[in-house]
Amino acid sequence: MFTDNFEKASLAQLPTTLELLTNITKQLKGPNIWIKRDDCTGLAMGGNKVRQLEYYLGHALSKNADTILTTGAIQSNHVRLTVAAARKLGLEVEVQLEHRVTGRKAEYYQSGNPFLVELMGAKTHFNNHGEDEDGADNKLFEIAEQLQSEGKKPYVIPLSEHYLPYGSLGYVDCASELLQQCKQLSFNVDAIVLASGSAATHAGLLCGIRALGFDIPILGVCVRREAKLQAQRVLHKARQVAQMIGFKDLITESDIWVDDRMLAPGYGQLNTPTLEAIDLLAQKEGILLDPTYTGKAMATLIDLVRTQQFKDKQNIIFLHTGGSPALFGYPEILNDDFFQQ
Ligand SMILES: Cc1ncc(COP(=O)(O)O)c(C=O)c1O
Repeated sequence: MFTDNFEKASLAQLPTTLELLTNITKQLKGPNIWIKRDDCTGLAMGGNKVRQLEYYLGHALSKNADTILTTGAIQSNHVRLTVAAARKLGLEVEVQLEHRVTGRKAEYYQSGNPFLVELMGAKTHFNNHGEDEDGADNKLFEIAEQLQSEGKKPYVIPLSEHYLPYGSLGYVDCASELLQQCKQLSFNVDAIVLASGSAATHAGLLCGIRALGFDIPILGVCVRREAKLQAQRVLHKARQVAQMIGFKDLITESDIWVDDRMLAPGYGQLNTPTLEAIDLLAQKEGILLDPTYTGKAMATLIDLVRTQQFKDKQNIIFLHTGGSPALFGYPEILNDDFFQQ
């Protein structure tokens, strides 16, 4: 395995299933739409971050850390799962919640992820500058310094691009899991679609697939920043990952495919196609998407199918990266008149 040299904690229930979305495939009348259920990775309501945290926490344990620190938006799934992972491994955990999304109502601050973070008992700090990744990291490192001066052994899981993306290694592993499942189900993959935020998942999966010798296109749906900036971020991260797993020149610019058609009006903000995608998957498949990541990724996939950018009978895999707890922070999803107001 490409990742054998890295420490790993055991947190996820794997493999996650790969299933055909029969009702959606029938309804859209185009390619076969498959779903990789990484919303069901086992820990504390699941999601892609569980695979990532196996490597971060493995690294933390190898350094004898006793306290884990990380940062994210108020409704961050990453923060929820970091707290859960730390609790499972018997570690202390402190999190920083960033005010990234404006105009939200009380539920956003109280339900879903922040509710679960409080339930699991993490110490919480707040940061008002949600767009400043370096600033958020600096504050985390300040907290870590303070903990160190008190005799603790803190381990920071940072947000910005300046650090090695250990979490991506979980998606390098996922690539072989996924391709093996496709082989068992006897189909060839024509494209993979996923939400691309920090780009750790996107970069890891891309490197894993390319390292195994496959040139399957992987589409990262922009949920945090416009396509040009996200493409730079994915390329940078993918090159870091490639180097970590011992490859030179594995990834070039032509491997990077991103699409920001569903980004507006911004991170964590709904739009009509995203709402439709959330409704459609819930009502036709019993699959729960989320407003910030997977709803936008599925809305993009649906738009690509409707505009015939995939051919009939092609096989497209949607990587469901989780996030459904955030639904409870967006009660307007059930209000049919929401976009007419
Ligand atoms: C549900 C969900 N999907 C996708 C992503 C994006 O993953 P990444 O940050 O690895 O790009 C996140 C990130 O927080 C997430 O919570």
